[in-house]
Amino acid sequence: MQALILAGGQGTRLRPLTLTTPKPALPLAGRPFLTFMLDWLAGHGVDEAILSCGFLAEEVAAVLGDRHGTVRLRYVTEPEPLGTAGPLRLALDQDGLEEQVLVVNGDVLTDIDLGAQLDFHRRAGALATLALVAVEDTSAYGLVPTAPDGEVEGFLEKVDAGASADPAPTDRVNAGAYVLERSVAELVPPGRAVSFEREIFPSLVGKGLFGHLDEGYWIDIGTPERYLEATRDLLTGAVKSSLPPRDATGSLVHPGCRTEGAEVGPLSVLGESCVVEPRARVARSALHRRVTVGARAAVDGAVLADGVSVGEGAHVEPGAVLGKGATVAPQARVEAGARIEPGTEVRLADRRPAADAAPVRVAESRRDG
Ligand code: GDD
Ligand code: MG
Repeated sequence: MQALILAGGQGTRLRPLTLTTPKPALPLAGRPFLTFMLDWLAGHGVDEAILSCGFLAEEVAAVLGDRHGTVRLRYVTEPEPLGTAGPLRLALDQDGLEEQVLVVNGDVLTDIDLGAQLDFHRRAGALATLALVAVEDTSAYGLVPTAPDGEVEGFLEKVDAGASADPAPTDRVNAGAYVLERSVAELVPPGRAVSFEREIFPSLVGKGLFGHLDEGYWIDIGTPERYLEATRDLLTGAVKSSLPPRDATGSLVHPGCRTEGAEVGPLSVLGESCVVEPRARVARSALHRRVTVGARAAVDGAVLADGVSVGEGAHVEPGAVLGKGATVAPQARVEAGARIEPGTEVRLADRRPAADAAPVRVAESRRDG
């Protein structure tokens, strides 16, 4: 079975991480994110994945190569963004496609049963079958009301329930995994950006478009909050994966790390070659590779990209995301939810008048924010 993975978006909601690393190649629990998706696809009989890349395409190929286990990887790089459906047409025109193809968004961590979806698709004689999942807050997704037999009644991409008096018509959303007949690819106009969600699917309502509800694990990792949630779910085993065993705090510390005398955990990931100095604390956080955390510093609920350096006694607060190579000065504080650009420095009490600057205890500098 062939699968086309949409891996060409800019991942704007995951900046600054995605300024330097494309979303599919971002480390999640210490592995390039897309390898989790490839394991899932392989488990459902996919033996060829067409990676549809655009933004930072070379980076994706450099990280994933031309094979993942039993799955052959092929790259189709678009000269300019072709949206979600345009890449399927490009793949068809470049190398042809099999009779049926799976198309998946390249940013979902899931164990949805694709085999059951495929069976349903064949029994229904569908043209296209969308995997659906039920979520509480539907606003970030495509809403897909269906009839009892699964036929799709409408496709409403990111409708803001708050802006309309009507409640959302369903809690079922597009999970970003489609079984498509090749003829769907032929319907996509060539040579321009085309959206499945805004053009193709709405036009197929009543013409063989079906939805298949799945109750498995599913998350779109495309925001820092959901990226951390996915990290936690991998660590706790809420989603199946082939990760190595976690330690007593539920954390995963990769080879080449040094953490003696530090407190690491709960539910944290240290990628290769990280250093956490004595009496520093790292909790509920994802540290990519070669991150250093100085003595007595504290990092909680944050994401630190490759090469980030947190100075002695500094604090990184929940929801902060630090881009590649960013540095935090000793005793400085990175506020909750802050986004720190790659390679920049967070200085001690940036907004404190110079005369007042030193020496500063952490407790004092915290009042500044
Ligand atoms: N090749 C290519 N070219 N890929 C693209 C492009 C493009 O121009 N634009 C986006 N993608 C890829 C992204 O990299 C991502 O893997 C996937 O297409 C979906 O794009 P997102 O930007 O992540 O969309 P979303 O999360 O807001 O919404 C989509 O996913 C939801 C489920 O997570 C829609 O499909 C919704 O209907 C759906 O509910
Ligand atoms: Mg997404």
